[in-house]
Amino acid sequence: MATINPFLLKGYAGEQYFCDRVEESQKIINSIHNQQDLTLYAYRRLGKSALIRHVATQMEADYHFVYADIWGTSSLSEFVKELTNSIIKSNVFSQRGLGKKLQDFVKSLGTSFTIGHDGMPSIDLTYNDKSKAFKNLDEIIGFLNAQTKPVVLAIDEFQEIRKYDSEDTPIEAVLRKLTQQSNNIRFIYSGSEFHLLNDIFNSYNRPFYQSTRMIEIGPIEHDIYKEFILYHFQKGNKSIDNSLVDEILKFTYRHTFYVQSIFNHLYSLSKQPKNWTEFEKIYHPFILEKGVFYSELPNRVTPQQFVITKAFAKAGKVSSPTGNAFLDLAGLTNASSMKRAVQALLDKQILIKEGEDYRLYDVFLEHYLNFNKH
Ligand SMILES: Nc1ncnc2c1ncn2[C@@H]1O[C@H](COP(=O)(O)OP(=O)(O)OP(=O)(O)O)[C@@H](O)[C@H]1O
Ligand SMILES: [Mg+2]
Repeated sequence: MATINPFLLKGYAGEQYFCDRVEESQKIINSIHNQQDLTLYAYRRLGKSALIRHVATQMEADYHFVYADIWGTSSLSEFVKELTNSIIKSNVFSQRGLGKKLQDFVKSLGTSFTIGHDGMPSIDLTYNDKSKAFKNLDEIIGFLNAQTKPVVLAIDEFQEIRKYDSEDTPIEAVLRKLTQQSNNIRFIYSGSEFHLLNDIFNSYNRPFYQSTRMIEIGPIEHDIYKEFILYHFQKGNKSIDNSLVDEILKFTYRHTFYVQSIFNHLYSLSKQPKNWTEFEKIYHPFILEKGVFYSELPNRVTPQQFVITKAFAKAGKVSSPTGNAFLDLAGLTNASSMKRAVQALLDKQILIKEGEDYRLYDVFLEHYLNFNKH
């Protein structure tokens, strides 16, 4: 088999390419063994989805594991379709492939298969009638609940349900009721928008109020990530400078996707940089190439917000944006207009609050703005 670049840029390819998350995995597995439903929160690109898949591989012997990513769904109808297709792809059917169980299930939903370009079956469902969609949802959950093995149903990007049309809003109440009837299913809800998840799971007057155990995922620890990186370079007979690894981990705040991207790039080179100066020479064109994604930023923010965004890029982590030092850096005199701008940039997901500090959400944007001063 051809050797692959060990620093994955998407998905999950087995534990050898997956760094740490030992405690988090244990906590999740332990909760599931104890019939607790879970909510996993992590900001974007930190490794939620990969973690769920990592946990799935460790549980597949004892559980049917269904992973549904509902990112981009905008209605109950799409939600039901996504859920159904996730079941079709899962190990619920693995033993007998496209067996009778699956055929009967799909027939009961009143639809039929289409075979995709990848040779995988899927179904297409659209509902003109909401009550039909709710009825099918009931059937799908009922179907999972009736399996002989217990089922884990992971719904990734769960906060999307809060963005559905207003006619779909009973979805929270309906889902909550279904989950309460389903003793054979453990639910993992995960998502990246804290205020929405918090609203779903921690509002007194909402159906899911305190119904799950909340687990927050943070960045991987420096020393553990470093060891993983050094191990893979060594294994690939590539040498990389120890302190350069330290510096890159700091430079990316250990935000998983950005760490992976940089080391994937360095690994792909025939000659690795020996120090920071050599690294910058390589990194500069790499980051400028990302410019296509960032050139439209001025259209998404006001001119003042853009100036403030650039000040954040320069400062890196900022603990007190309304303090004098940062106001000076941004060229502002008014703390309350800074406060408003920071809130707007948080809402637009351009800024992120990590612990007590603020920084740009997108690490490459920070680097891009710094390299591309004008
Ligand atoms: N523990 C890990 N070790 C190594 N690579 C990881 C780890 N966790 C995630 N990754 C990699 O980091 C990248 C981002 O991970 P993932 O897609 O799981 O994040 P996410 O939080 O689900 O992101 P999004 O918000 O975009 O859905 C992927 O390339 C993934 O392969
Ligand atoms: Mg994800």
